[in-house]
Amino acid sequence: MGSASDAGPTVDRSGQASGIDRAGQASGIDRAAAYAAEEDADGSTVAGPTVAGRIVLVAGATSAAGLAVVSALARAGAGVIAVGSHVERLRTLRAAVPAAVTYQCDLADFAAVTSLAAVVHAEHGPIDGLIHLVGGWRGGGGLAGQSDEDWDFLHRNVVTTLRNTTRAFNDDLLASPAGRLAIVSSVSVDNPLAGGANYAATKAAAETWTRAVGQGFRKAGAPAAAVVFVVKALDGLETELAGRVVGLWDTDAASVNNTRVFLAPPTP
Ligand SMILES: NC(=O)c1ccc[n+]([C@@H]2O[C@H](COP(=O)([O-])OP(=O)(O)OC[C@H]3O[C@@H](n4cnc5c(N)ncnc54)[C@H](OP(=O)(O)O)[C@@H]3O)[C@@H](O)[C@H]2O)c1
Repeated sequence: MGSASDAGPTVDRSGQASGIDRAGQASGIDRAAAYAAEEDADGSTVAGPTVAGRIVLVAGATSAAGLAVVSALARAGAGVIAVGSHVERLRTLRAAVPAAVTYQCDLADFAAVTSLAAVVHAEHGPIDGLIHLVGGWRGGGGLAGQSDEDWDFLHRNVVTTLRNTTRAFNDDLLASPAGRLAIVSSVSVDNPLAGGANYAATKAAAETWTRAVGQGFRKAGAPAAAVVFVVKALDGLETELAGRVVGLWDTDAASVNNTRVFLAPPTP
């Protein structure tokens, strides 16, 4: 796992052949198409929201779940900005989803995330969606096994990266005609175990932070929503998660804001 000193406080796109590949990426994002449907409506036939044409940033995009989410968003016509901390894994993701633009950034480093936001704004404009997937698990050994080292790892990955990205992009989500924030949490928040206390506590903090962001959306009267997806294990649920993420834009913001959505494992 990278630390703040690994990536430095700047966005590092050096691993990409020419930084962002504008040919297949930024220029392929047609956000005007989505907004035109709303602007052309005569008031009685307002088109439903859709992710097509929205700019969605996936924070922690190189896992199996990240690949599924990035792929589904790209297929649905979103402009996808995929962020991770490892150049090689981002390169693999780009090979699988050429429509996605990728940035290397240590999302645990607020200065780096601030720089990332500046670059994203300059190259793509404000984002409409933030899908936070940075996670990881440490635990075991009962309460005695809840080490400071594991706590620091989990706090950095689960909480700090969420705080950093939401603070950096909150104004975008507030200003968007369809701002959406989503995280993936765990059933361990409801049923914490002694051996997973560090993990459950950081996931609970992430959920609380997300609900606070959602309260800010509601208070501002913004058509934005913050949603917590909940799983026991993600393995096998990547496609379900990806579909739910795409579907966030098919639902009225007020009806999903600050909801907790359980993803069910497929029935045998
Ligand atoms: N997996 C499960 O069974 C499970 C269960 C319950 C909840 N969840 C939650 O579901 C979400 C997705 O799970 P996952 O297993 O796909 O997540 P993950 O593999 O732990 O993290 C997703 C990606 O985040 C990137 N990342 C890690 N640290 C980063 C940093 N400092 N800056 C930028 N990117 C960073 C990693 O890519 P790089 O190393 O390439 O940067 C990784 O591919 C997480 O929030 C997780 O806690 C998962």
